[in-house]
Amino acid sequence: MEYFPTILALVRAAIKQPNPVVVSQANRLVKALRMNGEDVEADAVSKLLEGRKRSSRIEPSRVVLSLAGLPGEKITPNVRPPVDKETGTSLADIRLPTPKGAELAPVLNTTLQISVSSLIEEWQNIDQLQAVGVRPPLNCMLYGAPGTGKTRLAHVIGLEVGLPLVTARLDGLISSYLGTTARNISALFAFANRYKCVLLLDEFDAIAKVRDDPHEVGEIKRVVNTLLQCLDARSQLGITIAITNHEHLLDSAIWRRFDTRILVPKPDFQSRFHIVERYANSLDLTQPELRFLVWLTDDFSGSEIETLANALKRSAVLSTAKKFMFLKAIATHAMLSANHQKYKKWRQLLGPTESLAGVLNDDKDLAFTQEDLAQILGKDQSTISRWTRKLKEQETI
Ligand SMILES: Nc1ncnc2c1ncn2[C@@H]1O[C@H](COP(=O)(O)OP(=O)(O)OP(=O)(O)O)[C@@H](O)[C@H]1O
Ligand SMILES: [Mg+2]
Repeated sequence: MEYFPTILALVRAAIKQPNPVVVSQANRLVKALRMNGEDVEADAVSKLLEGRKRSSRIEPSRVVLSLAGLPGEKITPNVRPPVDKETGTSLADIRLPTPKGAELAPVLNTTLQISVSSLIEEWQNIDQLQAVGVRPPLNCMLYGAPGTGKTRLAHVIGLEVGLPLVTARLDGLISSYLGTTARNISALFAFANRYKCVLLLDEFDAIAKVRDDPHEVGEIKRVVNTLLQCLDARSQLGITIAITNHEHLLDSAIWRRFDTRILVPKPDFQSRFHIVERYANSLDLTQPELRFLVWLTDDFSGSEIETLANALKRSAVLSTAKKFMFLKAIATHAMLSANHQKYKKWRQLLGPTESLAGVLNDDKDLAFTQEDLAQILGKDQSTISRWTRKLKEQETI
């Protein structure tokens, strides 16, 4: 069978995610192959289906075993976080595990999604790996531009692994008294090592800065040295996730302690499309309008896209009496957010609609039809075709 390797690869990819429709279609394929006398091919698909059943059967027990694999007591609702001895301020927040899926994961590009899933899988199966003498690194650094979903991602990873999340509180940790910050860091790690948990160090650069900063005195050296010792000790005991958007400020010895470093980038075109869809879903936008927003949010972080979508939603609510003016609402947001100062595309938005039509018409990737442009710009199609004709004539002169 000429295309069988491709079919097999498709089946393998499709049944990775348990989906009853895909499984029943694959079973039908096995039957059809047998009826045709193609037993070798039928056996190959059957084996894949068997493998899927095996792995989905052992998955739950793997997870239970894995939690036993890490040392530490269980955090109950009565467990209090550690505090600064002098001020009594909490050094951490504790979040007990909630059902998986309770928090929506940030939209990630496909490669990143695969990497994060494999990290979660390793952490869910620490014991399995240990049994064969392979120990996964227990620490991970998430870094990247502000607002790209790093904190949200860390929470989702924690939930997926099924452990409580102990998030360090910078206001509690950092003290102006000499030696107190280092002592607080030790107390935080001692707490995290005592219990089975994921330790989350958000805004990590605040405590892990380069030690030779000329503006800092001996204190930062003491803090970073303590942190290095604590990270080394914890590397065998529990999961740690550090987050920063200033990775260049980190001390190089600290950076080296993290075997897994995940760059969370600004979303690409495809991811922006999903983010726009997620946050603007109640607006009932048409496909061309959605694609226009994706075009407009080039170089935006996920958080900036969410802010734009929220502004549009507010405009839509307040313009119930009239028709929701899509382009006008975006232009208003441009002024209020100063996006027109920062992004060239947003400046074009505030210029004549005719030139914006020209820019959108010329963008080959967007491939907007005149009907699409009419919808986005709130004009009739004859106006759009008149504008584009005029622009073409000007180009040929
Ligand atoms: N990729 C994304 N997909 C969906 N929503 C996102 C994405 N990125 C950011 N957001 C939205 O923006 C909010 C803020 O993101 P978050 O605080 O996780 O970003 P961050 O990278 O930690 O930012 P900072 O570096 O400023 O701390 C999220 O709660 C989410 O609502
Ligand atoms: Mg953050």
